[in-house]
Amino acid sequence: MKIELAKNYGFCFGVKRAIKIAENSAGSKDSTSATIGELIHNSLEINRLKDNFRVKTLKNINELTDEKRAIIRTHGITKGDLERLKTTGIEVIDATCPFVTKPQNIAEKMSNEGYEIVIFGDINHPEVRGVMSYSTKPVHVVLSQEELAGAKLPQKVAVISQTTKKIEEFMTIVTHLMQRVKEVRVFNTICNATLENQEAVRELASKADVMVIIGGKNSSNTKQLYLIAKNLCKDSYLIESQNELNSEWFKDKKICGVSAGASTPEWVIQNVIKELENIDKICNS
Ligand code: F3S
Repeated sequence: MKIELAKNYGFCFGVKRAIKIAENSAGSKDSTSATIGELIHNSLEINRLKDNFRVKTLKNINELTDEKRAIIRTHGITKGDLERLKTTGIEVIDATCPFVTKPQNIAEKMSNEGYEIVIFGDINHPEVRGVMSYSTKPVHVVLSQEELAGAKLPQKVAVISQTTKKIEEFMTIVTHLMQRVKEVRVFNTICNATLENQEAVRELASKADVMVIIGGKNSSNTKQLYLIAKNLCKDSYLIESQNELNSEWFKDKKICGVSAGASTPEWVIQNVIKELENIDKICNS
């Protein structure tokens, strides 16, 4: 069986940057840093940062105790939390991905100019909650055009997307808004890393017999990769580590495609590939 990696996969620029920032924040032995919310959506990498760099993960700013530094996660936090944090006197290190800061700034600027904000995204996702908090006007968060159907819309809206969403679905929302609202300002805030990883999965899944997507099960961009793969290759599996691989999946398969979400560490990917090679030797030789 040929094991083939997607042309683009794994850590994106924003995650690499956040991890570097967290590692550099480690400081001396007795001083700890804490991230507000999970720095990235990958529990294995979060544990590595805790064990090797004394970077704790807190649920919210109320859990801060004697930490010296607070690190803002890649998905950002709400404007209110950021302002509260700054009043505590703790050193604030911002690891928000610049691709997330962008929609935050757009929401603030456009709402100040009188536009209501439409966000294509998941209202429960921390990135979306953060972006919403920057708007000074009502915000409509939707996952489909159907959800907009009942919404009372003004004559001016600005539409943005959660960074990890699919462009085709974003365009459906935009088209729907164009038909209902006089002035629609469109900002494509889907990040390129996501698009490149998605494009590469599409290419690989269309020729593979089996696809393995590696990443956190709570990671939105990993789930997107999995859905794209599954659409083109019915034998597609989403796993967090090599321990979840099942040799049955690979029997008589010729090409096994592998990809990983934007917050999946390279060492996790390499462990999966090693295990796939072992399985191949046992099953297919
Ligand atoms: Fe940033 Fe895009 Fe990664 S938003 S955290 S570069 S997936």
